[in-house]
Amino acid sequence: MRIDILSVLPDLLRSPLEHSIMKRAQQKGLLEVHLQDLRAYGLGKHKQLDDYQFGGGAGMVMRLEPVVNCIEQLQAERTYDEIIYMTPDGVRLDQGICNQLSMQQNIMILCGHYKGIDERIRTHFITREISIGDYVLSGGELPAAVLVDSIGRLLPGVLNDETSALFDSFQDDLLAPPVYTRPAEFRGWKVPDVLLSGNFKEIEKWRYEKSLQRTQERRPDLLDGDED
Ligand code: ADE
Repeated sequence: MRIDILSVLPDLLRSPLEHSIMKRAQQKGLLEVHLQDLRAYGLGKHKQLDDYQFGGGAGMVMRLEPVVNCIEQLQAERTYDEIIYMTPDGVRLDQGICNQLSMQQNIMILCGHYKGIDERIRTHFITREISIGDYVLSGGELPAAVLVDSIGRLLPGVLNDETSALFDSFQDDLLAPPVYTRPAEFRGWKVPDVLLSGNFKEIEKWRYEKSLQRTQERRPDLLDGDED
């Protein structure tokens, strides 16, 4: 899978992509991430990217020409399945969206800045608008890193059996059960007996019950089949 991220601050994205599972996915050739520096498409001597908004009001708006030029240059090289805009007024990201996107070949992710992007980019190019939660960040880079990580780890071959995404929270609308490692006792705090029993049927049952209990307590909405 290839992901192009269009940003005015591509450096913000480097570190999250250079470690751990994202690093492994790229080293294995399963994921290619290309950072596109929008400054290179800026206008005039100062490589301008933003401007005052028509109608007045505080805050600058990302101009459309640099973004359109970058998008169209990439589109001339390959077909993109999705052009995603990271924005707090998008659809809230969930595991279902991550699963869908992980099946695509080529996607572009546009990171917003300033007050936002000229609406005409959204109307004419963007296929999906995604928010990572009901709070506002300074730009779309951290949300884009979240999206790439959540998709990248789902690509076949990225995770080994041990860390398989099938057992993640949300994958079956249940939160993950508690986990423990050595020592079996610390300051009198004991690991549940069943996990030490070697009885895998009982262990599976215990994990399922704990998942259900945790979901009921923390996220009853998931059990209702209610997205919100
Ligand atoms: N840009 C700023 N805040 C954001 C959010 N919550 N989700 C996605 N993009 C954003």
